[in-house]
Amino acid sequence: MTSEGHWHSAVVYQVYWRSFKDGNGDGIGDLKGLRSKIGYLSSLGVDAIWLNPTYPSPQGDHGYDVSNYFDVDPLFGTLEELEQAIDEFHDHGMAVLLDIVPNHVSSQHPWFISAKEGGHGHEAESRFIIRQGKGDSGGIPPNDWKSVFGGPAWSKFPTEAGRPQRWYLHMFDECQPDLNWENPDVHERFEKILEHWYELGVDGFRIDVAHGLYKAPGLPQIETFAGNWSACWDQPEVHEVYRRWRKISNNYDPRRFLIGEIHTSSRERLLEYVGEDQLDAAFDFSFLHQPWSAEGFVERIIENLQFADETNSPPVWTLSNHDETRHWSRYGTDPEGKPIDFVETSTRYRSLISLMLALPGRIFLFNGEELGLPQAEVPDESRQDPAFFRQPPESDYKGRDGCRVPIPWEKEEENAGFSTGEPWLPMPRNWHLYSVDAQDEDSGSMLNYYRDQIRMRKSHEWMGLGQVSQLSSDDGLLSFVKSRGQDKVMVALNFNGIPMQMPRGEILFRSGACFSEDPQLEPGEIVFLLLHEGV
Ligand code: NOJ
Ligand code: CA
Repeated sequence: MTSEGHWHSAVVYQVYWRSFKDGNGDGIGDLKGLRSKIGYLSSLGVDAIWLNPTYPSPQGDHGYDVSNYFDVDPLFGTLEELEQAIDEFHDHGMAVLLDIVPNHVSSQHPWFISAKEGGHGHEAESRFIIRQGKGDSGGIPPNDWKSVFGGPAWSKFPTEAGRPQRWYLHMFDECQPDLNWENPDVHERFEKILEHWYELGVDGFRIDVAHGLYKAPGLPQIETFAGNWSACWDQPEVHEVYRRWRKISNNYDPRRFLIGEIHTSSRERLLEYVGEDQLDAAFDFSFLHQPWSAEGFVERIIENLQFADETNSPPVWTLSNHDETRHWSRYGTDPEGKPIDFVETSTRYRSLISLMLALPGRIFLFNGEELGLPQAEVPDESRQDPAFFRQPPESDYKGRDGCRVPIPWEKEEENAGFSTGEPWLPMPRNWHLYSVDAQDEDSGSMLNYYRDQIRMRKSHEWMGLGQVSQLSSDDGLLSFVKSRGQDKVMVALNFNGIPMQMPRGEILFRSGACFSEDPQLEPGEIVFLLLHEGV
């Protein structure tokens, strides 16, 4: 899939490459491993992949600290190999999105090294947000901003005799200094980066922290600034950047796709980013954060469909990514956080992918979700996420490693076939039970469910395209009618803990594998019902 039209209902698979498949035995996924699994991705039926950052990086935030935007990290492979992989994906009809990181660079990026080593007032400082500290010798941070990962958003530069202390801003880890987008050099460089990758055949980008880049003028103290949170994010100037990026992306055939990771204080503000002149799409994190509730899901769907109408761009649906607790574990618990019955969890989980596939728009899957992987337990001594290490002692937050544990491929092999070396994050002892080869053989497995459902979406246009009407959450039953051409289908999902009466219509599909003869709609089950004239 490389033509623009397909992006309207694309199923995109996120490859967190460090954890996907290791090809050289160093315990970290790589291009050799990824290339060996193109057939697997093709058999899953996805239209595109999104690769987490592949650039040279000290890996302080696992690639989100980039030291050179024009090349490939040797851990992952070479530039030539990436080009070959892109061609191979294209040959299999899949598009490739890379991840671009414009808010910050690595503290090992040559720009930052020059700013740090150049000394006070060096011109290289102007590419970053560097300020003198407060107090007599500048020993107090310039303002009260906090890093998203915890702790202050400022770190010190080396002390210079007789000079006040200089500090640099980092909204994430201290290895990720924020760029100064007031500087035209920064714009120029990122435009070149886009062109560089587009020339090599990359089909588009997922934009990291797309609401970042600019900060409120004067870097006001949060505690005194009326807009508080908004001092650090979502400044009006950022839209001009995306207008330029749109123009550049439109210069290619097919025009390149841009999707933003955007967090704003409201949907109205999110609207500002998407449309003909800026980004094609933005992730909808409120859908991902929605607890198990018919009403809640209906509200999220209504909002997301309205958003799509207002932006004239199909919606995006996603339930997991490399920053969030895997949704098997999120939806497999009761409101008190206790695990619920396994069969009901599995039914809910199957129903959610079917629900997303029956909605119009684009779907983003996170590697391993097709295997039904839960959030893995990672012992504290094995944790790698910088966010874990920046937490205050009283915090319960354990960081994001639990969703990043490597993928199990072969049940009989060492490390479930992920690597012949020690995996960069330990894999739980029972991980081989989820392996791809075990699931391949089992017609009732989660993997085969995902494959069948993606295939169904391909052969039934009403699923990925089509109009939604009659959305309802009455009595804990989420339902809507989906119409396209002659097809009219009711989609109904039982959010209750008890069976419900089956709505009327001819059963086209239902998610509860063991309930095929059951006259009722079981807890967590979804059904697609063909509606005939007069029903
Ligand atoms: C969002 C990315 O998804 C996350 O993994 C990363 O740590 C931050 N942005 C900082 O780049
Ligand atoms: Ca490797």
